[in-house]
Amino acid sequence: MTESREPIGVIGVGWVGLVTAACFAELGHRVVARDILAEKVDSLSRGELTIHEPGLSDLLSRNSERLTFTTDMGELLGSARLLFVCVDTPPTRSGDADLSRVRSVVEELRADGDHMLIMKSTVPAGTGETIRRDLPDVAYVSCPEFLKEGSAVADFMHPDRVVIGADPADEAAGDAVAALYEPLGGEIVRTDVSSAEMIKLASNAFLATKISFVNEIANVCEEVGADVGEVARGMGLDQRIGPSFLRAGIGYGGSCFPKDVSALKMLAGNTGYHFQLLNAVIEVNELQKRRVVQKLLGHLGSLVGKRVALLGLAFKPHTDDMREASSLVLAARLQGEGADVVAYDPVAAGAARDLLGGVELRDSALEALDRADAAVLVTEWPEFAELDWTEAATRMARPLLIDGRNFLDPKALISTGFEYEGIGRQSADDRHSSASVARSRAEHAP
Ligand code: UGA
Repeated sequence: MTESREPIGVIGVGWVGLVTAACFAELGHRVVARDILAEKVDSLSRGELTIHEPGLSDLLSRNSERLTFTTDMGELLGSARLLFVCVDTPPTRSGDADLSRVRSVVEELRADGDHMLIMKSTVPAGTGETIRRDLPDVAYVSCPEFLKEGSAVADFMHPDRVVIGADPADEAAGDAVAALYEPLGGEIVRTDVSSAEMIKLASNAFLATKISFVNEIANVCEEVGADVGEVARGMGLDQRIGPSFLRAGIGYGGSCFPKDVSALKMLAGNTGYHFQLLNAVIEVNELQKRRVVQKLLGHLGSLVGKRVALLGLAFKPHTDDMREASSLVLAARLQGEGADVVAYDPVAAGAARDLLGGVELRDSALEALDRADAAVLVTEWPEFAELDWTEAATRMARPLLIDGRNFLDPKALISTGFEYEGIGRQSADDRHSSASVARSRAEHAP
C-alpha cells in the first residue's frame, strides 16, 4: 500500500487506541501512538501485545515500520497534525463519566493550535462544545468508535457506519477524517458534534436495553415453559427488530455497556431529565447474575461447602478483559453462600487472578470440573463446545451445569448424564412437557 502523506497521531493506547493505530498503519498510514505508561510503550515497541485481541498481533508485526510508540507528547505533536484521542473515560463513583484523562490531553494541547483533535473516547454529549471553547485554535471532530472487543480489528476494517461530528467552522477537519475512513466502505454519517456524541451513547444504551429486554423475556419463558432461543429467533426475523443482541444470558459486562448506560442516565439526570428506562436496564442486568445463584440453590439446596466450577471468566469470549465481567459478581455471590469456587478461562486467568480473591484457578476446564458439585458456563469460549462432556460428567461429584450463555446443546449434555439448565431455555427433552405443564397450570389458575 502507498504511504499516506499525512501521518496520524493516536493518544492513549488502550483497546480502541491500539486497534485504531494498528489498523491505520495497516491501511498504509504512518502512525505515532502515545501513552503515558512507559511500560506499555516499551512492550509495544518490542512488538509485545498488551491485550488479547484476535488479528492484532499480526497487524503489529506486519506494520512495525509504519507504527511507532512513544511516551513523549512533544514527539507526537511534532510528527502528526491529525490526533485521535483514545484515552479511557471510566465511570466515577456517581456513575458520571470521568473526563480527567481527556482534560489532561486538552491541557497538553493548549499550547499548540496547529492540530486537529479527533475524539474517539466516549464522552457525554456537550463535552466537544466545551473543548472547542477551551481550544479555539484547534479543529475538533467527534468520531466515536463502535468496535467490539474480540472482533475489534474486523469491526474497524468493516464498519457499519462511521460517525463524524464537526461544527461548520471545522468542516475541513471533518472532510479530512472522512477521507481516512472512505476506503473502509461503511456509510459515513456527517453531523454536528453533540449529535455524534449522543449517537455513541444512545447506540450502546439501546444495545444494553435489547439485552436486558431479552433477559426479562427469558425469565418469563421459564415461567410459561417457552424457549427464549425460539422466541428471539422469531422476533429477530422482523426487520424492525433484527436478530442481533437478543442472546439471553447472565447479563452484559465489559468496559462499555455498564459505563455508558450509567453515563447516559447521569447525563440526562444532570439536565433534570429522569431516564426511567435505563434504571430498569441496569437493575435487570444486576439481577440476572444473581438468578444463577438462585438456580444453583434450587438444585443443591444449600451451597455451603459445595464446590462450584466457573467455566470462563472474561466478560465475553476472545478477550482477556475482566472489566465488569459477570464472573466477578457471580463468584462473590457464590462465596457469600458458602461455596468453594474454582474457575478456568483460556486467556483471562492472568487478568482475573488479582480480582478473584479466594477463587482457585485451574489450567483446564476438566481440571476445574474435577469433584465439582455444579458448574456454571459464564463465557461462551468455543473450546467449551468441544469439551469431552462425558469425561466431565464422570469427573464431577454431581454433573450439574447451569449454562449462563445458552451455549451448549442441552440434548447432548443430558445424554452424557448431565442435569442441564440454561437461561429461559427448555432442554430439548422437556420443551413440550414443560409447555404443557405451563398450559395446564394456566388452565387450572383460579
Ligand atoms: C460494545 C459495543 O457492542 C460496541 O459497538 C462499542 O464500540 C463498545 O461497546 C464500546 O463502547 O467501546 P463490547 O463491550 O466490546 O462492545 O462487547 P459486546 O460484544 O457488545 O458485548 C457486551 C456484553 O453484552 C458482553 O458481556 C456480552 O456477553 C453481552 N451480550 C451481548 C449479551 O449478553 N447478549 C447479546 O445478545 C449480546
